[in-house]
Amino acid sequence: MKKVLVIGGGGREHAIVDALSRSPQVGKIYCAPGNAGISAQAECVAIKDTDVEGLKAFALENGIDLAVVGPEVALAAGVVDAFKAAGLRIFGPSKAAATIEASKDFAKQLMAKYNIPTAAFETFEDYDAALEYVKKGSLPVVLKYDGLAAGKGVVIPETLEEAEETLKDMLLDDKFGKGKVVVEEFLTGPEFSFMCFVDGNDVYPMTLSQDHKRAYEGDKGPNTGGMGAYSPVPIITDEDLEFSLEKVMKPTAAAMVSEGCPFTGVLYGGLMKTPQGPKVIEFNCRFGDPETEVVLPRLDTDIYDIFSAVADHTPMPAIEWKKEVTMGFVMASKGYPGSYEKGYEIVIPDSVPSCHPEERSDVRIYHMGTTIKDGKYCTSGGRVLMVVGFGADLQEAHDKALAAVESIKCENLFYRRDIGWRVL
Ligand code: AMP
Ligand code: GLY
Repeated sequence: MKKVLVIGGGGREHAIVDALSRSPQVGKIYCAPGNAGISAQAECVAIKDTDVEGLKAFALENGIDLAVVGPEVALAAGVVDAFKAAGLRIFGPSKAAATIEASKDFAKQLMAKYNIPTAAFETFEDYDAALEYVKKGSLPVVLKYDGLAAGKGVVIPETLEEAEETLKDMLLDDKFGKGKVVVEEFLTGPEFSFMCFVDGNDVYPMTLSQDHKRAYEGDKGPNTGGMGAYSPVPIITDEDLEFSLEKVMKPTAAAMVSEGCPFTGVLYGGLMKTPQGPKVIEFNCRFGDPETEVVLPRLDTDIYDIFSAVADHTPMPAIEWKKEVTMGFVMASKGYPGSYEKGYEIVIPDSVPSCHPEERSDVRIYHMGTTIKDGKYCTSGGRVLMVVGFGADLQEAHDKALAAVESIKCENLFYRRDIGWRVL
């Protein structure tokens, strides 16, 4: 039986642990650092996801057969390179390949060079030059900080004053850190998340999902890491999907090979279905969160085999998906994505199943940011729970998830009730 180490401690990692626990080959799962919900399905070890040396030492000492990396910060810290150098098997891209997410400018230059459809753009280090460019263009305009910012480094000003303020924050006051700014054309249309398992030139698509990036109902408020998701996405046609695979994901994988940094792991295409067809909004170098929590429960293939095929560069098994569909609601701490308090008790009624491999139910709760205090679940992050419903159709999945959400008691959580509004 295989021993697997999952790196990370959010809802995405909970869904990865949950999928691994369905594999008949996997005997023991560790998660570093994990969270309170994950600890019901894996042994959590107190090592930070960016502590590359600590993670490597743990894997060597415990005879780990395969490591799987969740968060981009661990990838950007070079955890895959370090594990491989130590002869350990690991699923995820190298630090060089992770640049496709870590630097917006790198991703945009790559797309420009290889004709991958995306918004027109220009990159600036100088405040005055950036402001001048914005003044010449139209509003709204998209301003992206060129570095990792947990989904919060994108601002879309409607007025020149707002644009000026944002550019000041990003280029003069270094509020996000020292870095460049990508100024981008504003595109319109529904967004969708296209995650693919990638091994160099080989691209294996997952079923589609759609996230809800804004904090409040009606797609209002600031951008977040994501407030809810569902899978599949009926408004995306087979033609859109074919285009996205053949004209976006496959050429991007090939471009990474040509650039000398072949991608291995999950390449996440954040795409927008514009009037001119699908275009890239962003690339991520890992599973999406909360998309993974609605996609992996639908996977009908042993995920250990999939991870192994990529990690070992061996043939990929046929990837099958269940007919059952999913929709999930994120419950987040009041104040998120701004500042928020932690440590509020969460009461999940017994009628709502937790998330256990033996449990077959129509709702699963993935923990995003929880701890256990005095035997009780408490909030410990901005996003706290992702409550996923299953159904024969998205309405049924929606109703099951929402009923479970409404039964969970915690005085400091909020959620969007309109997840799936585009398709219901
Ligand atoms: P990103 O972090 O690049 O995915 O951007 C966060 C969010 O900002 C996206 O999910 C979109 O909703 C929005 N966004 C980013 N780029 C654009 C664009 N060029 N046009 C319109 N909206 C955008
Ligand atoms: N939910 C968006 C992301 O994972 O980047």
